[in-house]
Amino acid sequence: KTTRIPLIAGNWKMNLDHLQAVAFVQKLHWTLKDAKHEEGSVEVAVFPPFTDIRSVQTLIDADKIPFALGAQDLSAHDSGAYTGEVSGAFLSKLDVGYVIIGHSERREYHAETDEVVASKVSAALKHGIVPVICVGETAEDLEKHGASAVPAGQLEAALDGVSADADIVVAYEPVWAIGSGQAATPQQAQDVCAVLREVVAKALGADAAARTRILYGGSVKAANIAGFMREPDVDGALVGGASLVVDDFAAIIRFQK
Ligand code: G3P
Repeated sequence: KTTRIPLIAGNWKMNLDHLQAVAFVQKLHWTLKDAKHEEGSVEVAVFPPFTDIRSVQTLIDADKIPFALGAQDLSAHDSGAYTGEVSGAFLSKLDVGYVIIGHSERREYHAETDEVVASKVSAALKHGIVPVICVGETAEDLEKHGASAVPAGQLEAALDGVSADADIVVAYEPVWAIGSGQAATPQQAQDVCAVLREVVAKALGADAAARTRILYGGSVKAANIAGFMREPDVDGALVGGASLVVDDFAAIIRFQK
């Protein structure tokens, strides 16, 4: 765990237009500076809507803001007749370093299957973008199969065809914990993240398992982040609601173990 740099990622979902996005990133940067947050101890990434990415990228670049930039989705295709889609080739030209793939909201509202997720993972890797592969069980899955069976199966499918040296991030987001205010306990998160690390080991080998960051997501806030970060297999958080409030997100980034 000590060799893995924690990643605190803010998934804004469909919130903040490009003007609000620029104001937010500037304010977050200054808040962390004022708090004398040590750069480099934690990697910070923001995942704005597509329409904000160019503006946020320009700001990060001009002001040398040490945040990574991510997208919330990408097309499985490089270019062509796919109305409304955005290709990994376009995203990588805007310095997009990460892309969320298979978020439960996309699986649910856009019918993204494990096969679609796997093809998007390979599209991201092809364009040098690190996929943040989201997996997680619904409340019903939890009752029927326990916590880890569904996320482990989703991850196994997503890693199909991925090479052993690929740079990936995994996000365990129990669907029942997303936006519900009811986070998993640190122990629940640890148990599933440990199983997911085994899945990575089996698919990509022990080295990949040791270096891959596995995040927890689902109602993460300033008050519970430290508990998750104490767990050996939890390497960061994918934050939704609390990533939209500068002081809350800054407090999460500045978690104390
Ligand atoms: O991707 C992050 C997300 O799904 C968690 O959302 O609002 O529960 O932090 P939230």
